[in-house]
Amino acid sequence: MNAGAADERFAAASASPGSGPPGDAQRLFMSMFPSGVAVVTATDGGGVPHGLTCTAMTSVSLEPPTLLVSLNHASGTLAALRESGRFAVNLLRARSERTAEIFAGRVADRFDATIWTPSVSTRQPRLVRDAFAFAGCTVHQAISVGDHELVVGRIQEIEVAEDVPLLYGMRRFARWPVQQL
Ligand SMILES: Cc1cc2nc3c(=O)[nH]c(=O)nc-3n(C[C@H](O)[C@H](O)[C@H](O)COP(=O)(O)O)c2cc1C
Repeated sequence: MNAGAADERFAAASASPGSGPPGDAQRLFMSMFPSGVAVVTATDGGGVPHGLTCTAMTSVSLEPPTLLVSLNHASGTLAALRESGRFAVNLLRARSERTAEIFAGRVADRFDATIWTPSVSTRQPRLVRDAFAFAGCTVHQAISVGDHELVVGRIQEIEVAEDVPLLYGMRRFARWPVQQL
């Protein structure tokens, strides 16, 4: 393909910030940046588990071990982690796409659809069937930015097993193309 044809295809899929519904251009841009899929969990002050599907997760520092998640201010899970000062990041297996949908949807009790146990150190919900990697954190800092909260967590515990990760990109779920593990 020559450069001109590539430019035309790029232009066809473009949108300017501010030209359409709020966030449309940014959503399109971010859809071109595939990621793994996490369920962020937290127990509230009464010990009730909460959780949501989250792709806005990144490593921040290795020393001390620190990560961050970006959660909408309206999130019930954010309210729970504010109460307990703790949360966990559960990385989903490729076969757990349905769980990702449930933790993003309107199901009354999301935890009925999975198997979970409190983790050893932080006592945060660990999805034992659907997650192959787990990080339990204490809240170090929370920074409000626009309609989201950046929650910076100090990692207190990590568990990892080998499996194929669930991915999300181009507005759909996918699996990492691993021939053999
Ligand atoms: C693939 C995918 C990724 C998502 N990533 C995020 C995210 O990074 N942060 C966020 O606040 N919501 C994210 N959401 C939306 C939440 O999962 C959804 O709004 C959920 O219902 C919030 O639950 P809660 O209010 O009980 O915490 C994502 C949804 C999907 C399907």
